[in-house]
Amino acid sequence: MRGSLRLSRGVRRTLKGAREVESLGSLSIAPSTDSVVVVTGAGSGLGQALAVLLAERGCRLALVDIDDSSLAATTAALPPGVESLQLRVDVADSTAMRECALSVEERFGRVDALFNNAGVVGPVGLAWEMSVPDWNWVLGVNLLGVANGVRSFVPMMLRHGSSGLIVNTASVAGLIATPFTSIYTASKHAVVGYSEALQQELVAVGSAIRVVVFAPGEVLTDISKGYRSRPPGVEWDAEQQESTTRALAQSLRNGISPTTAAERLIAALDADSMYALTHREFLPAMRQRLGLVEAGGR
Ligand SMILES: NC(=O)c1ccc[n+]([C@@H]2O[C@H](COP(=O)([O-])OP(=O)(O)OC[C@H]3O[C@@H](n4cnc5c(N)ncnc54)[C@H](O)[C@@H]3O)[C@@H](O)[C@H]2O)c1
Repeated sequence: MRGSLRLSRGVRRTLKGAREVESLGSLSIAPSTDSVVVVTGAGSGLGQALAVLLAERGCRLALVDIDDSSLAATTAALPPGVESLQLRVDVADSTAMRECALSVEERFGRVDALFNNAGVVGPVGLAWEMSVPDWNWVLGVNLLGVANGVRSFVPMMLRHGSSGLIVNTASVAGLIATPFTSIYTASKHAVVGYSEALQQELVAVGSAIRVVVFAPGEVLTDISKGYRSRPPGVEWDAEQQESTTRALAQSLRNGISPTTAAERLIAALDADSMYALTHREFLPAMRQRLGLVEAGGR
């Protein structure tokens, strides 16, 4: 009983705070000068574009990626004079992520924002032909990677004060189902649900940490070559590598640039939105899905 009384006080305090913020108009929750920001999957695509934009806003950066050479490429793309730390970490490895958080705390003393961006698509094919190693790989990076980020950095944010920002990269594929990438679709739906639960829990304990779901549509990145970072045990023959790369590259061919996508995310943070979409043209499909749920139809 005592626990639930404390909780409801926390909720009341947060809701009061939220009303006060609302009455001031929407305040940006985007990181700004001197913010300490962690970006996972920072070596390529969206992560790299975000790192550059955040550096231009004066942030200090912890760049996390499984691939050393990509980290070096992102570091080289940053404006001169930006303070940054490069950490070669597999986000699916909970111990490595905890050590990563300690390294960031040791270097910067705190964390203001965490962008859980690292992700892989995995194989393209029929759901019943997906292998268990592929499931473990894609869920390990896309879902457990996000949870590892939260488990490692949120306690630090809570210890250092109640504000903070967690941006979890889902996808349009987390809000509507896309065929032939069933593991990816499952992982991204899970990221959306996980993020919503996380936000509710932070409110329940009286924290002002904001959780944002980033759901890009097609963005022209190297994600079609993601099999390159697959762990040992995920066996793909040359034909599977080729067909998956071709199918993904084809589906992204009209995509927007990573910089445009990252700018749309920052604009959503400036408006304190919880859901950041890059392609509003997918909204009718999301409404249609809800309509089907209501009607119980097919
Ligand atoms: N490109 C798109 O069209 C698109 C659309 C929707 C969502 N997304 C999401 O955006 C995020 C970024 O993807 P991207 O398109 O920039 O892809 P990308 O392949 O260009 O970049 C992903 C980065 O993540 C890193 N990475 C992979 N596995 C990792 C691991 N286990 N630990 C740490 N780092 C790891 C890679 O080395 C790479 O640098 C992903 O979560 C992806 O699902 C992308």
